[in-house]
Amino acid sequence: TNQTQPHQQASNLWSSRLAFILAAAGSAVGLGNIWKFPYITGEHGGGAFVLVYLVCIAIIGVPVLIAETMIGRRGGQSPVATMRSLTDSEGTARGWRIIGWNGVIASFLVLSFYSVIGGWALVYIGKAAAGLFTGADAETIGGQFGNLLANPWELLLWHSVFMAIVVLIVGRGIRSGLERAVNTLMPLLFILLVVMVFYAMNSGSFGRAVDFMFAPDFSKLTTKGVLVALGHAAFTLSIGIGVLMAYGSYLPKKVNIARTAMTIAVLDTSVALLAGLAIFPLVFANGLEPGTGPGLIFVTLPLAFGQMTGGVLFGVIFFALLLVAAVTSAISMLEPVVEWLEEHKGINRFKSALAGGLAIWFVGIGTVLSFNVWSDIHPLGFLAFFEGKTVFDLLDFLVSNLMMPLGGLAIALFAGWAMRREGLMEDIGLRGGVYRSFMVVLRYLTPAGILVVFLYNLI
Ligand code: PHE
Ligand code: NA
Repeated sequence: TNQTQPHQQASNLWSSRLAFILAAAGSAVGLGNIWKFPYITGEHGGGAFVLVYLVCIAIIGVPVLIAETMIGRRGGQSPVATMRSLTDSEGTARGWRIIGWNGVIASFLVLSFYSVIGGWALVYIGKAAAGLFTGADAETIGGQFGNLLANPWELLLWHSVFMAIVVLIVGRGIRSGLERAVNTLMPLLFILLVVMVFYAMNSGSFGRAVDFMFAPDFSKLTTKGVLVALGHAAFTLSIGIGVLMAYGSYLPKKVNIARTAMTIAVLDTSVALLAGLAIFPLVFANGLEPGTGPGLIFVTLPLAFGQMTGGVLFGVIFFALLLVAAVTSAISMLEPVVEWLEEHKGINRFKSALAGGLAIWFVGIGTVLSFNVWSDIHPLGFLAFFEGKTVFDLLDFLVSNLMMPLGGLAIALFAGWAMRREGLMEDIGLRGGVYRSFMVVLRYLTPAGILVVFLYNLI
């Protein structure tokens, strides 16, 4: 509604609370829930990891989600510009501006590898449609995935197609591009996951899977596992990276941020848990290893599609919806980069999307090669902490486990300690005792939680 908050002009605002929820949930629900959550849960021993993840969602994820959206709405601009104008108007130290920069750089890096995995979803739509899973055993299905990873040209092709889709949508502008895409397909994905869980219930290993996911065995939890759980809580909610700041800048003043954030967190967490409940029974029923890594859903779900009636159609629809979920997350990652280019380089939206997308695509080649030509290259492998990590592993670690949680820490501290208090309660949308408790969590518990995890990992 004024010159200092350009996104807060009536013509730019999300049409409703629902439109924002759809976009923010579209950003949250993605490969992180369906591809990443199951495989890292498998790698880090199951129940105890899941428990830590859920605690992190509650005491770190939700408060930062609220704070970041609130900051974005107050600033009403791109993440970098929002932090610049808020540090001035709130009279805080300029150092907080690093939150905006961290977001732009992290969004850039995360999309570079996310797009490669998005390409896998594209490939698997084709494999499902071709009937390649029908009647196939675990070894065949595993072989198909192995062959894909071994072929850098194929990975590059689908990484390129995925990036092209994302650039086209973002280049066309925030409202037409974003609002339409997320509208109907996310509920469908949810329903399909529920169907998969029902299917998995009859696999004979459902009980074992529930045990694996929910019976915590703390002897399997490492300090690094705790860091990964924290990182994933940030990753899955898209917090600490400027995305919610960018989306929040279009949010009308009347929308209740706290309530909206809760809705998004509940949705996102349910999708992840459903994905786990669909996948782990198949893992155990087929004698597979839960800790096989990034290929987990691509070597388990096709087994189910290959055995069930209507599996070809079902498989195609599933991977198509996975693609949609991935795209709606990816467009949110491009947003901070594009807004920065628009505002700071004065290039129009379409050219910004194109230039940003091209640069990200190029960096993504590093991830493409991580699975084949460079699979033995471990750039920081001389440090015990990064032993065996490929370029992809390092990028994922840097963004998910360092930049996003530390961005979240800075946001919690900025909103909890540095910003002025007046108007904060109305902006957040909580009252009385609930508001006061929330502020205690945001000021103390959230930062302490993040710091403790980091300190443990340093020692
Ligand atoms: N939250 C997304 C997912 O779970 C990933 C994401 C990370 C989106 C960072 C935006 C920014 O798939
Ligand atoms: Na998510």
